[in-house]
Formats: sequence, structure tokens, C-alpha cells
Amino acid sequence: MSFAFGIGIGSQNQKSEWLEVFYQQPVLMPDSDLMEIAGNTLGYQGGNQAIEATAEQLKAFADALGSTAHTAQAELALKAAESNRPVAVTILETDDTASSTPEVYLKLHLLSHRLVKPHGVKLDGIFGLLPNLAWTNEGAIDLDELPERQLQARLQGRILEVKSVDKFPQMTDYVVPRGVRIADTARVRLGAYVGEGTTVMHEGFINFNAGTEGTSMIEGRVSAGVMIGKGSDLGGSCSTMGTLSGGGNIIIAVGENCLLGANAGIGIPLGDRCTVEAGLYITAGTKVALLDDQNNLVEVIKARDLAGKPDLLFRRNSQTGAVECKTNKTAIELNEQLHANN
Ligand SMILES: CC(C)(COP(=O)(O)OP(=O)(O)OC[C@H]1O[C@@H](n2cnc3c(N)ncnc32)[C@H](O)[C@@H]1OP(=O)(O)O)[C@@H](O)C(=O)NCCC(=O)NCCS
Repeated sequence: MSFAFGIGIGSQNQKSEWLEVFYQQPVLMPDSDLMEIAGNTLGYQGGNQAIEATAEQLKAFADALGSTAHTAQAELALKAAESNRPVAVTILETDDTASSTPEVYLKLHLLSHRLVKPHGVKLDGIFGLLPNLAWTNEGAIDLDELPERQLQARLQGRILEVKSVDKFPQMTDYVVPRGVRIADTARVRLGAYVGEGTTVMHEGFINFNAGTEGTSMIEGRVSAGVMIGKGSDLGGSCSTMGTLSGGGNIIIAVGENCLLGANAGIGIPLGDRCTVEAGLYITAGTKVALLDDQNNLVEVIKARDLAGKPDLLFRRNSQTGAVECKTNKTAIELNEQLHANN
């Protein structure tokens, strides 16, 4: 079985280089029928390939698919055959390091369509394959071609609005997954995995290869690589530490039913049912005083030793300034480590 398949409508610059690709119906683990027909009609010869398909090829592909269960893909191929934009049929036999822009876009679509979870697809080397573009009300534009396009628009009495200049577009221009609310769509990049029941408020942000499992209120930043468990809330302007630059190599995650207070931050993964006090930033090396139920000191350890442990409440003692950790009272089970010395 192959890894992924997608019929994409894209943009190219004047040098016929791919800028971006929109896959309306990406497929994870396409079956052998689809691959065989792609071989017979599109010239697919195995491996990972983005095929710039002609209208004739797409029609032949759609015809051949007619006798299979892939009616939705057949319909899409027929529509793509009428496209006045370039069409890329991208086939990934394996999840290898991407080697073209259409391949990267297919991987980002798999994430945002919730077909794979963050860390479930290989994304190394993608920055080199994603051109930095002007994302405008008239689509993606190569930055070298932007001044001329701006002039042309003005000459015709229009304004070309540049919404962002970035390697990643906003997710919602490609897919709006079911059951989400996103107050400011510019804050969620393509490649984000936004679980059903998630609300992202204006201050919230979700990077690519990051996201939420299910119901969550996101008013803080979900950095690349970070996954937030079901029922967990990120308070206003809080921060989850990414691993892309300067950070450690611990993959940050938040368990289920956690609360990161407003302006709080984490540089360690949290287990289920943890709370971080508003304004407290815990880094991996932060020295933490473990307190028992009577607020007596049990021991001082580094926050990294509490990584992934459930039922913890982190706070900064407002009188001493020391970072403290107690059993989270809302937790159902008591944390053994905190009570080992009771
Ligand atoms: C950390 C936090 C969860 C504690 O809340 P809580 O469990 O309700 O605790 P309380 O405020 O009732 O305090 C319990 C006791 O601890 C004390 N306490 C609380 N925070 C303390 C601190 N930082 N230092 C010292 N003592 C503290 C209280 O004074 C109180 O003492 P008492 O038993 O003598 O009355 C809460 O302060 C917090 O930061 N919540 C985050 C909310 C948030 O940001 N939501 C997102 C909105 S966008």
C-alpha cells in the first residue's frame, strides 16, 4: 500500500516553479487500484512523484476510475481537467523526506485534514522546499513578481492586498476541518491539526505539525511539534515551547484536562490534569519545590523530572518567589511522587 495521494490545483511563478498546491481530497494509504490506474493513465512509475497532469491524462484517469469505488476522485479529476491553473497529481509511495513543493503541501494537507497526527509524517527539510511568498487576495505571488502585480492591480483600479509574507499559508484557505471555531484565521497555519471541538481565540496560534486532540479553548500559542490533549485549555497569551530554535530537544505536549494559565509557559511536557498558574513559565531546568498536602517541602527537583507526570499544580509562591508543585486538587488520583514522603 502506498502512503498518500492527492489531485492538486496549484500556482506557479513565471519560471513555472511551484508556489503552492491545494488538495481538496487528499488520500492517506491509497489502494492498489488507484496506483495502478495512475500508472496506466498518468505515467506514474512508482516512488514519490508530483506529476503535472494534462487535461487528457486527467480525463483518462477519471474514466478508468469510473469502474472502481473512487468516484469522488474521478469527479475531482474531471473538474481538474477543466482547470486553467496547473494541476499536480502527487503520489507518495512512502513517507520519505519530501523532494518537491507539491509533496510538502500534500503532507501539510494530511495534517490539517486530520488524516495524520503531528509527528505522524516526515517533515524534515521542508523549509527549503517552501518558497517565501506573498499571500494575497489574488492568491500566492512570487516575491520577485509582486511589484509588477501591485502595479498592474493599481493601473486597473484595484488594490492587491498582501495578507502575509510567509512560507506557510493560513490553514483555512485550504481546509476548514469539521467542528472548529477560529476567531482570527491568520493565526492557524496550514499543517496544523485542529481537533473537533477546538476554539482558537484571537490571541491563540497553532503552528504546523502541532494541534489539539479534541475539545480545547486555545488563547495561547501552540508551537510547532506541540500536541494538546482533549479537554485542555490554553489561557490568554500562554506559551508552549517549540523545538525549532533555541529550545531543548524535549517534545512538548499537554495531557488531557490541563489548564495553562494566562501568560504561563511550559518547556516540559505535562501529563493529564495539570495546572500551571497564570504568569508562571516553567523551563526544563527550573528548580521546583515539591510540597505535600500541608505545604511542607518534600524535595527540590528539576521540572524536567516532572515531565509528563499527571495531577500537578505548578505555582510561583507569591511571597518567596520559589516555584512550587502540589497535587492538583481537581485531580482524581493523587500523584504518588508528591506523597512518597508523607
Ligand atoms: C494557580 C491557580 C489555579 C490557583 O487557584 P486555586 O486552586 O483556585 O487556588 P486559590 O486561589 O483558591 O488558593 C488556594 C490557597 O493557595 C494560596 N495561593 C494561591 N496562589 C498562591 C501563590 N502563587 N503563592 C502563594 N500562595 C498562593 C491562596 O492564597 C489560598 O490560600 P489559603 O488556603 O490560605 O486561602 C490560579 O491562581 C490560576 O493561576 N489559575 C489560572 C487561571 C487562568 O489564567 N485561566 C485562563 C484565563 S485566559
